[in-house]
Amino acid sequence: MMPMDANVAGNVFGGSILRMIDEVASIVAFRHSRNNVVTASLDRMDFISPVYIGDILRMIASINYTHRTSMEVGVRVEAENPLTGEVRHTGTCYLTYVALDKNRKPTQVAILRPETSEEKRRWAEAEERRKRRLKEIGKLKD
Ligand SMILES: CC(C)(COP(=O)(O)OP(=O)(O)OC[C@H]1O[C@@H](n2cnc3c(N)ncnc32)[C@H](O)[C@@H]1OP(=O)(O)O)[C@@H](O)C(=O)NCCC(=O)NCCS
Repeated sequence: MMPMDANVAGNVFGGSILRMIDEVASIVAFRHSRNNVVTASLDRMDFISPVYIGDILRMIASINYTHRTSMEVGVRVEAENPLTGEVRHTGTCYLTYVALDKNRKPTQVAILRPETSEEKRRWAEAEERRKRRLKEIGKLKD
């Protein structure tokens, strides 16, 4: 992380990290759908440990769930101190992307087929989150 990402005390802004999360997650969604994607929502994110100028940010991202035109991507953020190698879990965030066709309309995405128990757990948890978030905004249809 660079000085421009941080305040005068050297703490990295949450917004700088959110921007990187959105960029990384959108690449994951783009590669899955092979279409342009837009961020439909970003669930709450708690920053559970600070990030400082000079830290190396590591983002581990994966598709957790797909529905008709939407996909949930989970991103785990870790900060690594380059001098000591210490790695801290900074936070985890879930984002929903919608694939768009050439007319910028939502378009179907390939169904994710979870295979391992870990993938199945992620799918089930993501399905619950989807229901919760759509219920919150009054958009739960099925
Ligand atoms: C996301 C967007 C395309 C959805 O459009 P819409 O008219 O609600 O379309 P639909 O009702 O057909 O919904 C399409 C999908 O989006 C999902 N969706 C819509 N709003 C959502 C939200 N707030 N959170 C999560 N998913 C959402 C729906 O569940 C649906 O998923 P499904 O097809 O897998 O079931 C539209 O709201 C949009 O363009 N928003 C701006 C996106 C953007 O520009 N983001 C960058 C930052 S501004």
